[in-house]
Amino acid sequence: MPTALVTGATGLSGNAIVRHLQGLPEWTRVLTLSRSRQVSPHPKITHVTVDLCEASDSIADSVKGQIQGIEYVFYCAYLADPDPDVTFNVNVQMLQTLISVLRRSGALPSLKRIILVTGLKQYGVQLGQPKQPMHEADPWLEGEPWPKNFYYEQQRTLINAAREDGDSWSWVVTYPQDIIGVARGNFMNIATALGLYASVSTSLGQGEIPFPGAKKTYLAFNSWTSARLHAEFCVWAALKPEAGNQGFNVTNGDTESWHNLWPRLVERYGGKIPPVMFPHGDTGSFGDFEAWHSVSQFQPAIVKHEEAIGLKGEFSTRHNEVHQQIDTVKWAQRPEVRAKWEELREEFGLESETWDKATWRFATFLLSREFSCVVSMSKARKFGWTGYVDTWDAFEETFDTLEREGILPPAQKLKRGTHRI
Ligand SMILES: NC(=O)c1ccc[n+]([C@@H]2O[C@H](COP(=O)([O-])OP(=O)(O)OC[C@H]3O[C@@H](n4cnc5c(N)ncnc54)[C@H](OP(=O)(O)O)[C@@H]3O)[C@@H](O)[C@H]2O)c1
Repeated sequence: MPTALVTGATGLSGNAIVRHLQGLPEWTRVLTLSRSRQVSPHPKITHVTVDLCEASDSIADSVKGQIQGIEYVFYCAYLADPDPDVTFNVNVQMLQTLISVLRRSGALPSLKRIILVTGLKQYGVQLGQPKQPMHEADPWLEGEPWPKNFYYEQQRTLINAAREDGDSWSWVVTYPQDIIGVARGNFMNIATALGLYASVSTSLGQGEIPFPGAKKTYLAFNSWTSARLHAEFCVWAALKPEAGNQGFNVTNGDTESWHNLWPRLVERYGGKIPPVMFPHGDTGSFGDFEAWHSVSQFQPAIVKHEEAIGLKGEFSTRHNEVHQQIDTVKWAQRPEVRAKWEELREEFGLESETWDKATWRFATFLLSREFSCVVSMSKARKFGWTGYVDTWDAFEETFDTLEREGILPPAQKLKRGTHRI
């Protein structure tokens, strides 16, 4: 009868793990931690509000009585800051604090495994074109010329802590790609941003839903990660003895593209594909919207491999380019767009903070990076993982949940035109 502690339990990955554990009868007790929001009440859940930026002894006091007997820790806490140094320090420190809390509160004797959720920054996708498909054995991008990466330091923290504790517990690290799931007001949420963009666009003017990003992105290949499938993976990896002390890519198992997914999104919301999706070619403005173009100052991640693959000197910052024909950050601030959102919000009784917390800049990056982003799932498969979900099905399932939870307007009503706007 395994027991779990989930940190970041209200976030995109943590929330899905909590929901998955709720449905598994053999998991009898789940302790959930987060900083500000609450997990929905459930008989097997005890929720404690803690700030992992505080001192570990005060946190240990808050969870005393609940944390003893916990066997599996799912670490999904995440805090983003505009200053990369702050993001680095705070995310490393929160994990160190959690480990210290486990030690101070007498939880070590029962602890079996810590599952740490990270992501594809492992491979430097935020810096520009990576080598791909990405494999877990790929070298870390550390030292000159690479920027600091908190994922590496978190993994080092975990490896060292397990050693210090005499390997009485083991660890697993997951590398999910862009996560399709449900959370409120979090830092990176592609499904909510897409659902908002599509529902407002279909209700405006001619109902066209142009792809905001770049043509090259539209034609590129990508992998995605369903939060639900990732949760299933985390629980599988927690209990699989051979998975101990290993890192795993976790994606849906298919390879998809925006030019496959976008027409389905448009269809779901009853909108129209513009007759010419990219009237200005690869870049440029669409109608009266401003185009947006950015280049990362860093070398693209593939530079790490250029010698090994016989392409030395081939790659430069031009392989980091991000173009979008519609700047969604500015689009979301346009008076007619905001007014339409307000109408939809009022008509369907939607949560008021949804619009202001939507992660437009994150969506921009995913829709506008001009390279494919494909991950290998071979390692997990060799360890016996067989999970799979179709990426569009993952989007549909997530949109349905976001609609039920009053975060997105109901697409069916927008589609049928039965709403009053
Ligand atoms: N989102 C994506 O698409 C994506 C894709 C790939 C990888 N990842 C990675 O996955 C990991 C988890 O990210 P996520 O997107 O699931 O996170 P998220 O949705 O932003 O949720 C963050 C969670 O951490 C909690 N938290 C933040 N600061 C805290 C603090 N000081 N003390 C205690 N709890 C705190 C939040 O609690 P409250 O909300 O209650 O304050 C929330 O539950 C990160 O490493 C991220 O980089 C994310």
